[in-house]
Amino acid sequence: ELSPIDKAKFVAAKQATEFVESGMKVGLGTGSTAEWLVQCLGEMVREEGLKIKGVPTSKRTALLAKKVGIDIMTLDEAKWLDLTFDGADEFDENLNLIKGGGGAHLHEKIVATASDRVLVIADASKKVDTLGAFPLPVEVVPFGLSVTQGLIAETLTGMDVLGRDVVLRMKGDQPFVTEEGNFILDLHLKRIGNPRQLSFVINQIPGVVENGLFIDICDVVIVGHGDGRVTTRD
Ligand code: A5P
Repeated sequence: ELSPIDKAKFVAAKQATEFVESGMKVGLGTGSTAEWLVQCLGEMVREEGLKIKGVPTSKRTALLAKKVGIDIMTLDEAKWLDLTFDGADEFDENLNLIKGGGGAHLHEKIVATASDRVLVIADASKKVDTLGAFPLPVEVVPFGLSVTQGLIAETLTGMDVLGRDVVLRMKGDQPFVTEEGNFILDLHLKRIGNPRQLSFVINQIPGVVENGLFIDICDVVIVGHGDGRVTTRD
């Protein structure tokens, strides 16, 4: 028996599989919701003869995809993708997103940008009026970390946000390290008044690799509810 939150993720993932057709090259996102989707796709490969190539956005997703029977390739082998499925930490009514709670937003953004269509699957708790309650992840190179951190904090003073704490993500007593060997700064902004402008300004700072705002990237959000209902926004 699934908890309401897992049920919501599962029904959204199940519904999302309707967008897949044999022959497609499919980006596979990262996180607990994306993992439900990978499980569903694996079942279709094994039991219904669905033929797809998957491009995973993390080692964790790659392992799961292989385990459930999905052929995987790199993004460079695929060159372009028909469709990418991913989760999100927040989405708003314009289908702009915050991602990177799992630290994979750099690969996720590259893969999503290389896709004809991007579908986000989420439980209803991820819907917000204004982005920013979830801390915004920013991937930064380790070199000059404290300088980059200071520049980000300084930049935030001129922006339409409510909080300004810039916190190095930790794993135990060490900094969390991304698959590219970088660090993550979590920006506790509470409210992001202008996500497009913020994303642009943060990415101009030397040392910043990529922030977790996905602006105009997502085409459809498939929302699962705890009672099993699914609603779609596009
Ligand atoms: C991974 O870096 C994130 O972008 C995930 O997509 C996000 O954290 C959603 O994860 P859940 O589906 O586990 O909430």
